[in-house]
Parts: sequence; C-alpha cells; structure tokens
Amino acid sequence: MRVLGIETSCDDTAAAVWDEGTVRASVVSSQADLHEEYGGVVPEIASRDHQRLIVPVVRRALDDASTDAGALDAVAVTHGPGLPGSLMVGLSFAKAFARGLDVPLVGVNHLEGHIYSVDLEPPAPPRPFLCLIVSGGHTELVRVDDDFRHDVLGRTRDDAAGEAFDKVAQLFGLGYPGGPAIDQHAEQGAPDFHDFPRSRLENFDFSFSGLKTSVLYYLRDRSEAERAELLDTHLADLCASVQAAVVDVLVDAVQRAIDEVGAEHVAVVGGVAANSSLRRRINAVGAAEDVGVSVPSLPYCMDNAAMIAQAGAQRLAAGTRSPATLGIDAGLQL
Ligand code: KG4
Ligand code: ZN
Repeated sequence: MRVLGIETSCDDTAAAVWDEGTVRASVVSSQADLHEEYGGVVPEIASRDHQRLIVPVVRRALDDASTDAGALDAVAVTHGPGLPGSLMVGLSFAKAFARGLDVPLVGVNHLEGHIYSVDLEPPAPPRPFLCLIVSGGHTELVRVDDDFRHDVLGRTRDDAAGEAFDKVAQLFGLGYPGGPAIDQHAEQGAPDFHDFPRSRLENFDFSFSGLKTSVLYYLRDRSEAERAELLDTHLADLCASVQAAVVDVLVDAVQRAIDEVGAEHVAVVGGVAANSSLRRRINAVGAAEDVGVSVPSLPYCMDNAAMIAQAGAQRLAAGTRSPATLGIDAGLQL
C-alpha cells in the first residue's frame, strides 16, 4: 500500500510518501522564519503560507519518491488538533486529492501521528509501551496498546514543555522556536547555576507555567544593565538550568510511571524529544531499569507527514475510512 501523508496542523507544511512501511519521501517546509519576528506562530500567516506551499510540497514529495499520483492507494491527513485555518488547508487539499484519485481518505489525530512516529524506524516498540508526547502544543504521558487504544495517564494543566522552552527563550532574546537554541547553549552551561522550580503534581499531570514566571521574575528583579550583563556572561548557564528543570520533571514522570504503572518499553516523541539532554536521560533510565527505549531520529521528532502516513496506514489496515464530510477538530484529543 502506498500512502500520501499530509500535515499542516501548525507552521510546517509537510507531505510524505509511505510505501509498505518504508518512507520513500518526506518533505517539510518550515515557516519558522516567517513567525520569528512575532515570537510565535501567527495563525493567519500560517494558513496563508500553507495555501501557498501545499501544492509544491506535495509535488516534491511525489517527485522525490519517483511516484505518480495515480500510483497512490490512499491519502492520510491530519485533521486535528491544531490551528483551525492551518488544518483546513491540508484537509481540504487531501479531500479533493483523494476524491480526484478515487482512493480512500483517512483523517489522523496529530498526537497519534507523533505516537506512531516510533514505528517509522525499525524495530517498532512492542505493545503496550509508555509514551511521552512532548511538543510545542502538548505534553502527555500515554500508555499505548495495540489497536489504537491509548490510556492517557497525565497531561499538562497549562503550558506544554516546548511552549515553556519557547517562552523562556523569548525572555532570553533567543528567537523562535526557542527549544533548539536553549538546547545548544545549554551544552556549554552549568545546570546547577540556578535552581528553577520543578512542579511535581500528585498524579502524572504536568505544569510548566510556574517555570516561565519564575524566569520572568528572576530577570525582572534586576536593573537593565545587570540583566544585560547576566545574559551576556551566563546565558549558557541559564539555558542549562532551565533545561534541567524541564527535563527533570519529564524524566521524573516517566520514572514514576515505570515504578507505579509498570512498563517494559518507553518512547519519547514530539519536537522536544529532539532535546539532547532529554534523549540522554531517558536512555539512562532505560538502561538502569532494563526497559527498552525508542526515541525517533530528529526529523521524525519534529512535525512531519511520514508519521501521519504511518498512523494512517495502520488505521487503514484496521479498516478505518473517513467520510468525505470529515471536518477539522482543532481541539481533538487522544
Ligand atoms: O512536534 P513539534 O515540531 O510541533 C508541535 O506539534 O508543537 O514541536 C515543536 C516544539 C517547539 O516548542 C520547539 O521549541 C521544541 O519542539 N523543540 C525543542 C528542541 N527542538 C524542538 N525543545 C527542546 N530542545 C530541542 N532540541
Ligand atoms: Zn507536533
């Protein structure tokens, strides 16, 4: 089965060609530079740019895969959660394309796409496994079973982990998206330079808004000159301290879930799974607990359409078909 995957839920326009478990092409056109001056994604700009890019991105994916549209067996598309105007561009395109080719359409939950990104690179993790989804919009700890059953153990009550990185990076003057910049600077810094708060909630829920506020107060309590001097001399230390606070909370939740719920395999997916400290720490937990670990390679951590095709193909194999009336669902949950 050859599946075209389409992903436009946020600020990346992506298309991929998936063929019997092999990714033949995966094209991602990021709009990050368009949104940088605003310090975050501007929905109106994002949807307009998806509209400009969707046809060339799909065409390039087909070219890269040396595939004609006529050889496709199905179209899989993200229909939520995400920005309404952005989702609508991908879904409208996918519906028309599938209809024109007379092939099935399958709507995919973006979060399910992130979960199934672990199956893109063999070996696929054995089921059930514990999955930490950490992205710019979501932070969820999920127990993933066969046949698309997901048991959500906890989720963020306010900011997502990636959002925390992005907001703090903004305070440090590091631009958008801030996660990769914090990661890079942190490599040269001391994580114990400042003790930023770690919120440990009763169950497996997360909260990251306190961290952002604490960084804000930490900087605001100084004169402009002191602040400039601090960021000049200790940017790496501050980045390492913030990163340690976020990663400690995430790794602690995974460790507690292994202890309390049990798991033979854990996976970390989503944009924040690209974080080098998180990758190292989760691998260390796996080694210490004798638990298998799956973390996708970097391109499959970030938003991409290969993961949408992967999840869509598994849904199709289970008999799922979406109706031509399929709509977007900006607040879709697992
Ligand atoms: O999954 P993703 O590409 O898009 C969403 O679905 O949100 O995740 C994007 C998020 C952004 O918040 C970005 O700052 C964060 O992932 N991110 C990172 C790193 N690379 C991307 N956060 C920490 N360290 C990184 N290396
Ligand atoms: Zn995502």
